Amino acid sequence: MKQYIYYRDALEAVKRLRVNSEGRRYVVRFPLAQRIEHFILILSFFALAITGLAQTYYNTLAGDLTLNALGGIDSSRLIHHFAAFSFGILALYHVAIFVDEVFVHRRFGKIFPTWRDVTDAIQMIKFNLGFAVRRPLFDRYNFEEKAEYWALVCGMIIMGVTGIMQWFPVQLTLILPAGWIIPISRVIHRWQAILMVIAILTWHFYNTVIKKVNLSIFNGNMTIENMKEDHPIELACLEQASAVIQNKRWPLEIEILLEDVNKNIGTEQAVHAEEETVEEVVLEENTEGSIQ
Ligand code: HEM
Ligand code: HEM
Repeated sequence: MKQYIYYRDALEAVKRLRVNSEGRRYVVRFPLAQRIEHFILILSFFALAITGLAQTYYNTLAGDLTLNALGGIDSSRLIHHFAAFSFGILALYHVAIFVDEVFVHRRFGKIFPTWRDVTDAIQMIKFNLGFAVRRPLFDRYNFEEKAEYWALVCGMIIMGVTGIMQWFPVQLTLILPAGWIIPISRVIHRWQAILMVIAILTWHFYNTVIKKVNLSIFNGNMTIENMKEDHPIELACLEQASAVIQNKRWPLEIEILLEDVNKNIGTEQAVHAEEETVEEVVLEENTEGSIQ
């Protein structure tokens, strides 16, 4: 697998590969800005969920207690609107960073779904059923993380649109039919809220806390052992990029040998995998071949 890298990629790789005071190697998976972004997302999401669902279930004990604790329905609505506003600012920031990365720095990131995610998912199912000798090798994001990201992005867009429709009903009904548009937006908002809360508390929580504790979105760091297991291709890219930092001419082509990545995993399945014919997998490259 070949990739073009620029000096900035090599520099970033050097910064992300670290050693702690006990001499253990680790990788900076999320920079501070993304950690703060996720933290504000947690705060605004749970504030919206609690204040919203308390309004829906006002006639239950939990709803009644929550509404009382929040100071009544009016203050609950006020908090909901404030959290929605904070979430809106966060969403605008997220889009601005995206536009800057793609159109200014020409870095396309690795969160976009590719055909490889489909083949990875198939291989994962085969591995779980015992028909494949190894798990797929993942890059920066695996297919589950990408699915989670896009599901949450779509969910939040639906919440935002239907929320704004209810926030400004008078203005909206000047241009759209008054009879059904507000009730429909309310029903969609309510059921999408329930779906999202369930998705976060089961799917997202299971993947990040129960299956394996992953604190990288809070402290930024991931151990080399976890990188080898969960993101071995990204680790190989970082190691190769940092090794060529002294190079004078950029961009530079580096080659990631999947056989080596497999050996590097250091698990039993890697030993089996050595005997297996490793398919050449073509990584998607952005126009500059950036590794980010
Ligand atoms: C993202 C932007 C959002 C906006 C602009 C927004 C706005 C609104 C508005 C205007 C209402 C009507 C009641 C009121 O005036 O407070 C409402 C109700 C509600 N919201 Fe949101 N909201 C948003 C996100 C969320 C999220 C993320 C959740 C939960 C995960 C949520 C859950 C609810 C619930 C359950 C209701 C009550 C619906 C009902 O039973 O009638 N909202 N929201
Ligand atoms: C207390 C609750 C939460 C915990 C413990 C948590 C934990 C995490 C962790 C550990 C990651 C990094 C996964 C990786 O290594 O790639 C992550 C990523 C992410 N989180 Fe959360 N999260 C929480 C709440 C939320 C909420 C409420 C949302 C949005 C509504 C959210 C959206 C995301 C997204 C979009 C990603 C990136 C995609 C992914 O890697 O799955 N998280 N979260």
